[in-house]
Amino acid sequence: MENKNLIDLEVMTPQQIDKIIKKAQKIMKNPSDYRHSCDSKILATLFYEPSTRTQMSFQTAMLKLGGRTIGFDNPMNSSVSKGESLKDTITIIGGYADIIAIRHPIEGSATAASLYAGVPVINCGDGGHLHPTQTLTDIVTLSCEKGKLDNLKIGVCGDLLNGRTVHSLIKTLAKYKNNSFVLISTKELSIPLYIIDILEKNNCKYEFSDNLAESIGGLDVLYMTRIQRERFASEAEYEAQKNVFVLDKEKLAAAKDDMIILHPLPRNNEITVDIDDDPRALYFKQAQYGMYGRMALILLLLQDDEFFIDNRETTVSEHKCSNPKCITQQEDYLPNLSYEKKGMVMCDFCDKRMD
Ligand code: NCD
Repeated sequence: MENKNLIDLEVMTPQQIDKIIKKAQKIMKNPSDYRHSCDSKILATLFYEPSTRTQMSFQTAMLKLGGRTIGFDNPMNSSVSKGESLKDTITIIGGYADIIAIRHPIEGSATAASLYAGVPVINCGDGGHLHPTQTLTDIVTLSCEKGKLDNLKIGVCGDLLNGRTVHSLIKTLAKYKNNSFVLISTKELSIPLYIIDILEKNNCKYEFSDNLAESIGGLDVLYMTRIQRERFASEAEYEAQKNVFVLDKEKLAAAKDDMIILHPLPRNNEITVDIDDDPRALYFKQAQYGMYGRMALILLLLQDDEFFIDNRETTVSEHKCSNPKCITQQEDYLPNLSYEKKGMVMCDFCDKRMD
């Protein structure tokens, strides 16, 4: 069972990703064929941060597979409020559940949990870092609605700095042929450099834009995101960024007829409500697709021994990661795990450079 986790979709091959999508599509067609697939299995959902879709779609996915769920959605109602470490909580829950889905405000927390769980761990969002099962949701949607994951011009708009869904999505789509990206944001909320590195490594075309109206015309996909208020240092900084990019009917008029609009949700004001009835607005349908993607993921992690083993080689580094948002700064028993990328030493928890 070792290393059978979903922390970051990036370490999966396109073939493995394809296997999840195909499985999700099979389940969609005949959901009742799967209603006893996880009889007697237990999913723990440990949500240290608010969630509607991710938590409930995981719970629904397990219930539809015949399994059951335990967990918390407010850590203050658990022993976390008494100062219990992540290690201790996870060690205990790993002894109760067959699989763990965790969301946590600190970067690298899912990797940290995977060290102690003894059962598969699924990253449901670790701070501003990654959100691989949202990406699964997004690519199941693209496969069903566009019929492909390559040759797409994708605009991502909003909080590209803190939006973990965008980071995971770009990391995954960069691996497919001829995808290009338009990165639409203010300067303050532009995409982290490590994501640009990934685009370059994969020879992906990308451009920066600060104007949604001007950029919308050539897009096949527009991925809107919320400004992540909870990740700002001050309310004033958030106020300066909110409502800068709003997709409304006027801007949408310049878009292609077959462009699709995605959004991980929740929405604030970045898409006006009158767009919801436009056939290109797929964000509510996207959340439905996500549930099937999660059913497929649970099945493959629990039942297919060959499915996915994370073989990334790590070593213990002499130094601690200096990223103040990294879980190693908070839970000091964690080993300084690192891996090498292009001759650089990277933190295995938060993917930031350590040297
Ligand atoms: C996203 C998240 O939690 O990162 N929500 C989700 O899981 N669908 C996006 C967000 O909160 O803005």
